[in-house]
Amino acid sequence: MNLPLPDETNSDEVLLFNCSQLVTLAGPARPRVGPEMRDLAIIQKGAMLVRGNRIEAVGSRADVEPLAGPHTKVIDAGARVITPGFVDAHTHLIFGGNRANEFEMRCEGMTYQQIAAQGGGIRSTVRATRAASEDDLVTIGRKHANWFLRGGTTTVEAKSGYGLTLNDELKILRAIRAVGELTPLRCVPTFLGAHEIPEEYRDNPSGYIDLLIHEMLPEVTRESLAKYCDIFCEPKIFSVAMAREILSAAKASGLQLRVHADQFTCSGAAQLAAELGAKTADHLEQSGAASIASLKSAGVQPILLPGSVYAIGSQKYAPARAMIEAGLGVVIATDFNPGSSPTASMQMVMSLACTQMKMTPAEALTAATINAACSLDLQHEIGSLQAGKIADFVVHEAEDYRELAYWFGGPRPAMVFASGNLLSF
Ligand code: NIG
Ligand code: FE
Repeated sequence: MNLPLPDETNSDEVLLFNCSQLVTLAGPARPRVGPEMRDLAIIQKGAMLVRGNRIEAVGSRADVEPLAGPHTKVIDAGARVITPGFVDAHTHLIFGGNRANEFEMRCEGMTYQQIAAQGGGIRSTVRATRAASEDDLVTIGRKHANWFLRGGTTTVEAKSGYGLTLNDELKILRAIRAVGELTPLRCVPTFLGAHEIPEEYRDNPSGYIDLLIHEMLPEVTRESLAKYCDIFCEPKIFSVAMAREILSAAKASGLQLRVHADQFTCSGAAQLAAELGAKTADHLEQSGAASIASLKSAGVQPILLPGSVYAIGSQKYAPARAMIEAGLGVVIATDFNPGSSPTASMQMVMSLACTQMKMTPAEALTAATINAACSLDLQHEIGSLQAGKIADFVVHEAEDYRELAYWFGGPRPAMVFASGNLLSF
């Protein structure tokens, strides 16, 4: 398999010059809201010095070049755009198999929900994931990590949720940890044991909730396998009452919260996210003014996933404009998964954000970098190009940042740096 490796010629200090636009997103270490989302803090014809895994300086070439030493490797960016590495704050990074068969069924007219009701959907990926060993999952995760990195994504949030037994959930979370150690992709783990009621608990959902709270959560926290706990809160999956019970237990055990909310039904999940002080509420395609107001009052960041709307053939995208106007720190992410959103491309998601949700290219880039970093509590380390931050950045095949969302399905980045290393693919 072709895995990304740090370039052998990597040196400890790198100077990049001749960037058409150095898109820094410099600014406060908090979610950018309202008009701030359009302020990208661009340095025209900028330069950047990297030392080790950190950014040493950003500025004009005249300011930065004198700081370079005799052994500094000098890279001509070729009048291209440089941005921070994309931060993908909602992925289902690791799963067994794929669902190309269901994709074909949807092309022939069945809906995502009809397929799920027949035992397909999440449950079919659960069967394939249970059948895979931890090593198999690490191999799959490394392959996916390669896809993300090649597209300019240097950090992902990665959820479990296709195991739904104690051992299978732990197996996925351990595989996520291994992928983060074995590849240059930074992986932030989330426990999503409440992704679906597994087949064997179909007639006994409260038995599954007991297992989740009393067996899975203690083990996940004992092994420090997750930073966040997530749930698919939807009337026919986990109701608001069930979600309150599970998320409260997760919070009490020290995990922060994320919620799949208002994806198919506006049922109070966003309000629950607000009530419990969740870090994020994700999807929100069906959200109205009441959901938006509660997210705002509790400072919950919305994570919008237009890839999943596009891929299941729905027309109803989340109300991004209303959220930006309400002052929410909007994030966009891929929702990479084998069912509703089989894409690892943040540029594709930016394109959808612009064309379908009417975000501007600048807002989409802010939502894909610094705002996403805030949603993972990593705003002091990544998400913008500022001295002292980790040197995760991308040299794009573009002269203007607006091209990133414009050339949909377009060229891959010219260069990707993760922790100061130029990756070779
Ligand atoms: O975020 N909504 C639930 N979970 C995923 C879909 C998972 C799947 O279809 O396998 C989502 O869209
Ligand atoms: Fe998801």
